[in-house]
Amino acid sequence: MTRVVEVEGAKAGDAAPAFRYIIMNLPMNKVSPEKLAEMASKTRQVRPLLKSWVAGEADIPRLVDLYNASFFQCPDPYRPVTEADMRAIFEKSTIIMGTMYGADAAFIVNKIETRTNETGKVERLGVICGIAVHPRFRQKGLATAIGLAAYDFFKDKAVDCLQCEVYEKNDPSMAFITWVGFRPAGQLVVKAPSAQQINPLERV
Ligand SMILES: CC(C)(COP(=O)(O)OP(=O)(O)OC[C@H]1O[C@@H](n2cnc3c(N)ncnc32)[C@H](O)[C@@H]1OP(=O)(O)O)[C@@H](O)C(=O)NCCC(=O)NCCS
Repeated sequence: MTRVVEVEGAKAGDAAPAFRYIIMNLPMNKVSPEKLAEMASKTRQVRPLLKSWVAGEADIPRLVDLYNASFFQCPDPYRPVTEADMRAIFEKSTIIMGTMYGADAAFIVNKIETRTNETGKVERLGVICGIAVHPRFRQKGLATAIGLAAYDFFKDKAVDCLQCEVYEKNDPSMAFITWVGFRPAGQLVVKAPSAQQINPLERV
């Protein structure tokens, strides 16, 4: 399955620069107790230090700074987000953020959508629109910890399947979500004049 999105200003047809994202799915009933235990074990050291909460409107400026610091060192097409970009996603989603030693350290953006699957059944989809860990706190289990918080959120909302999109060149992110258990289900091709025209938080 390929979904093509053309951003305003993109040249028509094949001449437009294209950014390819892999759509990754994980049905909730495929999340095993063993994987949850493995993830919990990975977060043993950071869990007591991580303070997490559902972000409120007052957190938007902090989320902007955290997003911009985290994605600057990331293979995705990058442009800094503005408060207006962040507010647009904040109004449509539930953002869980967390601090380590009092410093903003990680966030995950969660949204619930419905879709009709191949057999005609209407499913509830838990979409992870973005996850990020500040570079200074990476590879210590923080994405795993905030991911488990998002899992609890989606489980509580009785979603059938989790979904996210990963930029094809983002190897760390692909390694992380593959380790969690997500598998490729299609691709999203974004045609845009340049990365500057892609609002990374709106394209969901
Ligand atoms: C992807 C990202 C969220 C991972 O955060 P993290 O806190 O470092 O991840 P964790 O420490 O919880 O790692 C868990 C597992 O993910 C995988 N992983 C994480 N970072 C990895 C990397 N740089 N290279 C390879 N595998 C990696 C590993 O399997 C790791 O387990 P291990 O440490 O036992 O090998 C972080 O690198 C990041 O914020 N990147 C920039 C933003 C981004 O790309 N977001 C995703 C697109 S929306």
